[in-house]
Amino acid sequence: MLETLCLPAGEESIRQAAALLQAGRVVAFPTETVYGLGADALNEQAVRDIFAAKERPADNPLIVHVAERSQLEGLCRVTPTAETLMDAFWPGPLTLLLMKTEKVPDVTTAGLPSVAVRCPSHPVAHALLQVCGIPIAAPSANRSGRPSPTTAQDVYEDMQSRIPFILDGGACDVGVESTVLDLTGGVPCVLRPGAITAEDVASVVGSCTVAPSVMRPLKEGESAPSPGMKHRHYAPKAKMTVYIGSDEAVADAIIKRYDETENAVILAHDSALPLFGDRRAFSLGETPQEGAHLLFRRLREMDALNVSLILAQGWKPEGEALAVMNRMARAAAFDLVVV
Ligand code: TXA
Ligand code: MG
Repeated sequence: MLETLCLPAGEESIRQAAALLQAGRVVAFPTETVYGLGADALNEQAVRDIFAAKERPADNPLIVHVAERSQLEGLCRVTPTAETLMDAFWPGPLTLLLMKTEKVPDVTTAGLPSVAVRCPSHPVAHALLQVCGIPIAAPSANRSGRPSPTTAQDVYEDMQSRIPFILDGGACDVGVESTVLDLTGGVPCVLRPGAITAEDVASVVGSCTVAPSVMRPLKEGESAPSPGMKHRHYAPKAKMTVYIGSDEAVADAIIKRYDETENAVILAHDSALPLFGDRRAFSLGETPQEGAHLLFRRLREMDALNVSLILAQGWKPEGEALAVMNRMARAAAFDLVVV
């Protein structure tokens, strides 16, 4: 059986990880959003090994990570809008969809004519990409359908004996995946919301739309703007309902459900926690950013507790809260209640 080595990130372990990547192996590493499962983006077999380790459907394309913009040369067509956005937000949690060249293998983009590219700001990710010197395809390092990993321990849970190496860089800062922005059409369009909001994008390039399926399920026959959206995502084992409203209204609704259910738990804002008495309630922080930072960790904790129902307090799905609410809505299979 394959042994999975998990080492704290440092000069030597980063060199080791880089050597494995250059040899076509799969390595997990921290980014500012979530942990990634990386391999040489231009090596078909290496990319296939990522799909296998994750049990990811082959029709869901990967993001190509680079240490600097110059590495994109020959891989995709960088438009003036893309340049402006890179000036403003790279390195950082913004992934750009651009038209690819033949150099990027079809396995990496799941046969699509576009490629997703991103330059992470996490110092360990940056050092790793720089030392290995090759573009690295990396999806989130979870097994398909599980919450994305925000610690090396989460990665180990999902990837033990499936990959040779995990670089441990501590807990991820943002906690949800990068914004995916489609630049292949006219107006830039957010396909997956993240820490960089549509408003942030519009403030530098004038306009930006958000794909309607960000906050609702795809309709029958509707095609997914991004293949990732048609797959079940961020799923905890328990059922989940998300409540949006004032602390008092949310607490009333949640307490009613909680008291009539066996083995339910509550995830709520800090300001609402005192309203739940001695019921099992955990913090989702106070702001949407704190919620994003904590959400996947809490969902994994609830899985470990084997709870039957998660009653969670959300935020109004707009602006900076869109990223965390997109994940909460999917985790709850769109069971959202406005109170
Ligand atoms: O923050 C992140 O983006 C993390 C870290 C590791 O960088 N990565 C990540 O990758 O979340 P992944 O594979 O879990 O999500 C990539 C998303 C998927 O929803 C995928 O469908 C979409 O980006 N995507 C990738 N390439 C695409 C393309 N050419 N066209 C449309 N959507 C694409
Ligand atoms: Mg993912």
